[in-house]
Amino acid sequence: MARDEEPLLARRDTEASMGQAEEDALLTGEPVHRGPRRGWGFWRQIGVFAWAVVATLAVIVVGVAYQKQLADKNTTQKPTGKRNLIFMVSDGMGPTSLSLTRSYMQYAQDKPFNKQLVLDKHMIGQSRTRSSSSLVTDSAAGATAFSCGKKSYNGAISVLDDHSPCGTVLEAAHKAGYLTGLVVTTRLTDATPATFAAHVNARDQEDEIARQMIGVSHPLGRVVDLMLGGGRCFFLPKGTAGACRSDNEDVVATAKKMGWSYASTRKDFDALKGGKSVKLPMLGLFATEDIPYEIDRRNESDIYPSLDEMARTALTALSEATKDSEQGFFLMIEGSRIDHAGHANDPSAQVHEVLAYDKAFSSVLDFLEKDSTPGVMVATSDHETGGLATARQLRPTYPDYLWYPDALANATSSCERLTRRYYEYREAHPEIKNLTDYVAESLRKGLGIYDATPAELEILVNNPDYAPYGYADMISRRSQTGWSTHGHSAADVNIYSSCSHTAKALQGNHENTEVGAFLREYLDLDVDAITKQLRGHSVLKPSWMGPLPAEGVRLDGQSHVEKYHGNFKY
Ligand SMILES: *[C@@H]1O[C@H](CO)[C@@H](O)[C@H](O)[C@H]1NC(C)=O
Ligand SMILES: *[C@@H]1O[C@H](CO)[C@@H](O)[C@H](O)[C@H]1NC(C)=O
Ligand SMILES: *[C@@H]1O[C@H](CO)[C@@H](O)[C@H](O)[C@H]1NC(C)=O
Ligand SMILES: [Zn+2]
Repeated sequence: MARDEEPLLARRDTEASMGQAEEDALLTGEPVHRGPRRGWGFWRQIGVFAWAVVATLAVIVVGVAYQKQLADKNTTQKPTGKRNLIFMVSDGMGPTSLSLTRSYMQYAQDKPFNKQLVLDKHMIGQSRTRSSSSLVTDSAAGATAFSCGKKSYNGAISVLDDHSPCGTVLEAAHKAGYLTGLVVTTRLTDATPATFAAHVNARDQEDEIARQMIGVSHPLGRVVDLMLGGGRCFFLPKGTAGACRSDNEDVVATAKKMGWSYASTRKDFDALKGGKSVKLPMLGLFATEDIPYEIDRRNESDIYPSLDEMARTALTALSEATKDSEQGFFLMIEGSRIDHAGHANDPSAQVHEVLAYDKAFSSVLDFLEKDSTPGVMVATSDHETGGLATARQLRPTYPDYLWYPDALANATSSCERLTRRYYEYREAHPEIKNLTDYVAESLRKGLGIYDATPAELEILVNNPDYAPYGYADMISRRSQTGWSTHGHSAADVNIYSSCSHTAKALQGNHENTEVGAFLREYLDLDVDAITKQLRGHSVLKPSWMGPLPAEGVRLDGQSHVEKYHGNFKY
């Protein structure tokens, strides 16, 4: 603000002090002739003029001070009329994922050390991530903190410690007249998207989550207008091709009956014309389970859309559909598989996931800049995955300070994909007893590893079950990337926004529930009213949220954090 006003004041000053004669002189090149005598009228004019300048300056100063005071008072400076909210989640992306990806990008694209990711330029704060049941959260509790703005136990899909449902920002947005959307690269029934539009006691109830998300068994009916992602198998009846439901319900058919339009192939996706010909509500299921990692998908873009393509399609579709409405839209976009690469400890898969997320992030910024409806994007992670370090001590001797991004650049395939190919090959060729040559070739072709030792090859050949971790460990060692777990960690994660001023409430270090609070406050939503409605629902008994977690795991409202009890040895 202040920066915009300074030149304005300066310009005003210069113009005001420049008399007409002087201006003419500048134009004509003639010297200015000033009369020797100045009458009363002249001095009166100067006086009036000086007074006017002082008064104008005073008004401006007071105005600026008042505005600043207002801005300080309202932690969230938000538009009062129609507005859009985009919430981005980078599942499992901790601060080190950024360092890893940034250095990789600089190496791979031959950029200088100060070249940043787009994300880097929009970092505004950090989020603390613990759940009610553990200092290390899972994605379900992590996303419930965003959707409901409340802490819950690991595994909870928008239910609280006492197993009562909590209303979500998406449900409240739907009720307030906003259009709503979810875009992910994993299963739409996975924890993060599920917490926005479903309520179950345990995240593995994906059959039920699918039904709630299309609205058939959700107490409030359909609350989502647009869903793009993977996880088709949870919408198809048991026994049919590419199905993974444990019952015979054809959720796709049910959705169509309810009025959803449906897309499941790249051809279907292209027919959406980047969002220009989307008929809402729209269900797009573009993979049986996960959409492949970006490192693999980029060679299969004739089969699968990218996160960026889906995000842009959703933005265009929702913005067109709300063109003449009083309310805008709420859209959640998740870079879902950064987390999976962390679980797999696969650094080359991860850098491509983060770059794909960075690209989608950049597209959201472009959208907000060009769109005539005001809006904001807030982005964060639910937790860190892998205990990632851009450092690795390989030997007992004191290590050198380095890591090698070039080893990541050698990989053209994810370790997940290499492993699947390896298993397929084993199954197709039971007659081949010695797979050493196959494994060595897969390392050269897939990871660019030419110096595998006999011991390394032997592990992969003799312990095929270890192959996913084996491949990933070989590339991690060569790049000297460190991992402390195949699970999650308690690290704080970054918060980003398209506008640090609008998202001022999230500057600095915050509890993840405060991110949830920001979302509802930005849209002025009454999430508690939704909670009441869900709890008081008379037709569907509490059992509509699926079975409770097993005895022993269950909290029953008594949230507590485990203490050390002697288990640290092998
Ligand atoms: C996939 O595409 C990348 C980048 O274009 C290329 O380097 C790589 O060799 C391709 N991978 C395969 C398996 O074709
Ligand atoms: C990367 O590939 C090149 C050959 O293209 C090879 O010489 C080099 O050793 C590889 N790097 C690693 C870390 O395996
Ligand atoms: C398997 O093949 C590799 C390379 O062809 C060879 O070095 C190794 O000795 C073989 N292993 C067995 C058990 O035959
Ligand atoms: Zn995870």
